[in-house]
Amino acid sequence: MGDFFFGITEWLRETWLLDAAFWMQETAISKVLVENFWGVPFAQVAHIISIAVAFGATLMLTLRVNGKVATNLTIQQVEARYVRWIWWTLVAIVISGLLMLFAEPVRNMINSIFWAKMLALLAMVIVSLMFQRSVLAQANAAGPGWTASGGTKAISWIVIILWCLTMAGGRWIAYSPV
Ligand code: HEM
Repeated sequence: MGDFFFGITEWLRETWLLDAAFWMQETAISKVLVENFWGVPFAQVAHIISIAVAFGATLMLTLRVNGKVATNLTIQQVEARYVRWIWWTLVAIVISGLLMLFAEPVRNMINSIFWAKMLALLAMVIVSLMFQRSVLAQANAAGPGWTASGGTKAISWIVIILWCLTMAGGRWIAYSPV
């Protein structure tokens, strides 16, 4: 598997991404992050805390859809409480991720694991949006006693799996052969 990802990295090295990485390295933000000891750790801590909040809120919605928690609340009440936390903290995840990307652009921009992670993230965002809207529409149509079908429960766990793949990709970036 290492050879597969290394092969993709070698291909990425021949693309415009390497020139983009060299340009990013010369930016003021990259220099501030690299030249100050607090730079990267601040971005990493912000990344990890916002991931914890967003993933925690996502897990609460999945557990409610599966009837494991907050069954005294309607789906509408649970979505109203958690969905905005998911999307606002995702903004913080993207900003802190971009900071770490600018801190080590050459290592990250041609890193096959980084791009595999971005694909998992894109899939997670699309499936999450469709899932949240579908659950709300089903619950609005069925009324307060709504319970999820097997298919809806399965999708709720696919969202969690996509989150875990994105997190695994995030941790693996530093160990990917570049
Ligand atoms: C839901 C979205 C995301 C999740 C769950 C996620 C997860 C993670 C995790 C778990 C780490 C390892 C943190 C550590 O051990 O210090 C990480 C690192 C990183 N992430 Fe993300 N991330 C997400 C989005 C992004 C985005 C949008 C970007 C860039 C635009 C990004 C760029 C990075 C970079 C550059 C690292 C540093 C790798 C390193 O130096 O070890 N991440 N991410």
